[in-house]
Amino acid sequence: MMNPVDLEKLRLVRDYHERTKHRPERYAPSLGYMDWANQPNPFRSFAGTEQIDLPHPALLTTPTYDSLFSNSPAASPLDADLVGRLFFHSLALSAWKQVPGGNAWSLRINPSSGNLHPTEAYLIAGSIPGLVDEPGVFHYAPFHHRLERRCRLSEPHWADLTEGMPAPCLLVALTSIYWRESWKYGERAFRYCNHDVGHAIGAIAIATRTLGWEARIVENLADEELSRLIGIHLQLGTEAEHADCLLALYPRGPVPETPQIPDLPPEQWRNRMPNVSFVGEPNALSRDHHDWPVIEQVSQAVRRGRSVRHSEPVASAHGTSTQNPLIGDRGQPAERIVRQRRSAVDMDGTTSLDRTTFYQILLRTLPGQFPFKTLTWSPRVALAIFVHRIDNLAPGLYFLVRSPLHEDALRESLKSEFEWHRPAGCPEGLRLYRLLAGDASRVAKLISCNQDIAGDGVFSLGMLAELESALAADGPDFYPRLFWETGLIGQVLYLEAEAAGIRATGIGCFFDDTMHELLGIRDRSWQSLYHFTLGGPVEDTRLKTIAPYGHIHDRL
Ligand SMILES: Cc1cc2nc3c(=O)[nH]c(=O)nc-3n(C[C@H](O)[C@H](O)[C@H](O)COP(=O)(O)O)c2cc1C
Repeated sequence: MMNPVDLEKLRLVRDYHERTKHRPERYAPSLGYMDWANQPNPFRSFAGTEQIDLPHPALLTTPTYDSLFSNSPAASPLDADLVGRLFFHSLALSAWKQVPGGNAWSLRINPSSGNLHPTEAYLIAGSIPGLVDEPGVFHYAPFHHRLERRCRLSEPHWADLTEGMPAPCLLVALTSIYWRESWKYGERAFRYCNHDVGHAIGAIAIATRTLGWEARIVENLADEELSRLIGIHLQLGTEAEHADCLLALYPRGPVPETPQIPDLPPEQWRNRMPNVSFVGEPNALSRDHHDWPVIEQVSQAVRRGRSVRHSEPVASAHGTSTQNPLIGDRGQPAERIVRQRRSAVDMDGTTSLDRTTFYQILLRTLPGQFPFKTLTWSPRVALAIFVHRIDNLAPGLYFLVRSPLHEDALRESLKSEFEWHRPAGCPEGLRLYRLLAGDASRVAKLISCNQDIAGDGVFSLGMLAELESALAADGPDFYPRLFWETGLIGQVLYLEAEAAGIRATGIGCFFDDTMHELLGIRDRSWQSLYHFTLGGPVEDTRLKTIAPYGHIHDRL
């Protein structure tokens, strides 16, 4: 039984979800115009902090991208090169774009709705050979690819904080500045911030894997404690950062995939919090702001105030993993695939994809394997897929049941007239079904706020989360986690598209209930939280691409 406080929080979460749905006749509340004068600075910095430059590593040809899914490479030692690579291949700049003669804007390894980048990252670490000789908390600053030292920790403090964790280990915390997204998207921004957290978790998990390390969310920490740990608890106002999650990173051990995160109650964590003062004033991002009270309200409602242990994923509930890949290793360096990721701004409407590669892409989205082991909960998300141009596969509406535990509930929730037909050649472990045959490009475009990219790709999809049962079982603070799961699936889809020689784009703008009506969903049992498209990209040839760190190297 949930207590009255949690029930009230659940009501706020449900209200937020409903009022931020886009509908063909009414978009979720936002300003309705671009307030360019107050466009937020995408780069946070802390004035007065010691700046520690990270190495800009040359690309390695191994491990290959495909090999990451079958085995983890040998673990790299903890040193400056490892930390440099970790951030360079997860959250750093990837390029600048410029309209000739006009302004330039930067892109990053991790994608972000509207390229607004609300996610900030902190490293909490012991001494790192060649980089820092004492433990501390550091803000990662992607503009310069460097660390800003927010505080020093004593060795005993660091030992206390990480007692029971594998050694060596690193901690990475993620926070969101909602204002960066609400400036453009108004109330729906809270959803986008959490998609972005999911993408950042994915980017970090994948970069970590290339180093032979593993990443896993630490769940047994209240948000307030995390805020204190990284020194953001005194930030106030519209530009304040909000603590999202903490990741533990550690070398792959002799028993693969068996992390040992300490399960401490919150009061014990609090005792381990260093009583230190933090250095550095956060920079102002905009001169003026618009308030979006419902974002503040929902963010309070989902704040985690207790130690939570989510149900562990059940190994047998995940179907076949990609340890039996359908296609051989394509030999593409993982770091190259990660760094070349981009969103397609337009799709050609003609490129097609072979069926085996399509099935392989879907296999990589299954839970219970890398990188989904970074999440600590049972999978909650299934995929409704609009197939447009897959060789030897009839176009139509398909459905991928990612967890067998969902199948009965889904068959119950979706329209009774659906076929549930197993397509030819589909591997046994992939619960893919055709629901309806026919051209789905028009409806896919319509649902995605009339964006052509949803209909002109090889396939597009909606990520359906079991919203009501997840909230009822795990409480209001599970709401953001549903978006994190979709963001992680999205990050895999982005990289899979690159590896297949096509391109992807996340789609946050879609008409929620139009999608639900198409599927026959009449309640909040399953809700589409994020859409995605993959296809043959059309480049915007007017734009010039500039190297990511030219602005630094040119000055050296
Ligand atoms: C959560 C999320 C939602 C997005 N929604 C859309 C969308 O509705 N339409 C679109 O064209 N691009 C969308 N994008 C793509 C972003 O605009 C893109 O990631 C951003 O401009 C940065 O470019 P990059 O991905 O090439 O680095 C979305 C991306 C994310 C992460």
